[in-house]
Amino acid sequence: MLPNRFLFLTCAIPVSLHNIKRMIGEPRQHFERTTSTNLIAHQWAIEDAPHGAIVTASEQTAGVGRRGREWVSTPGKGIYLSIVLRPQKYFLPQQCTLLLAVAACRALEESADVCAQTKWPNDILLQGKKVGGILCSGEWRQDELAFIIAGIGLNINQTTGELPARPIYPATSLRQISGKEHDVEDVLQKVLLEMNALEQENWAAIHDEFQQRCIFLGEVIGLREDNKKYFGIAQRIDEEGFLWLRTADGLRRFVNGEIAE
Ligand code: BTN
Repeated sequence: MLPNRFLFLTCAIPVSLHNIKRMIGEPRQHFERTTSTNLIAHQWAIEDAPHGAIVTASEQTAGVGRRGREWVSTPGKGIYLSIVLRPQKYFLPQQCTLLLAVAACRALEESADVCAQTKWPNDILLQGKKVGGILCSGEWRQDELAFIIAGIGLNINQTTGELPARPIYPATSLRQISGKEHDVEDVLQKVLLEMNALEQENWAAIHDEFQQRCIFLGEVIGLREDNKKYFGIAQRIDEEGFLWLRTADGLRRFVNGEIAE
């Protein structure tokens, strides 16, 4: 029987049906220091890493963020995690971002008395500040999705000088918000547990939770895409992970974009 991972043909069925052969988190490659866990996981996936395999690092020397930006990866202070996913062909990389964001929010809330929010398309926020980001990319062979590399960086124990300067949504860490140090591996295990739990939940519920947590839905926002700026009311994020914006020219659907001031 075919593995039914991340199937969401109808919203009422679990993201993954019951015949999971592998847990997310196994096998694992851990590096004290590496370039980018996404790069290593990508190479491993090409060499047949199974669904659920993960790459973690204590330090990244070339951590990658969205739009090719650097992801500052202070040694031993954050979670630098990449997951190899081999979902059904109906599951898209941008949906994977939503899934991982919900898992991360839950893990942060289990780790401290905090309220975690999402900022479409890929940010995790605490008190309106960026505590983490997600970078998912799909590898397509002909028209088939061969695998997704789902990378997440979470700032756990960084102090002010160890965080990058950001113009809007400044960077923070779990430690800065909770006022105490955390065990990085413990938070990482919580993210993995939540990912495994989410595989059993139905897509409609996960998608709904992402929307509930998203900071700007219903508000007027500016969105930059391909050097153009759009203004409008953020209406909703659809089941495929696209943002719908009501602009003066009508409704527009975005797969990506940067929230602008
Ligand atoms: C963003 O720009 O917000 C996304 C950041 C994603 C960073 C993570 S850290 C683990 C994985 N390895 C990388 O090189 N990037 C992702």
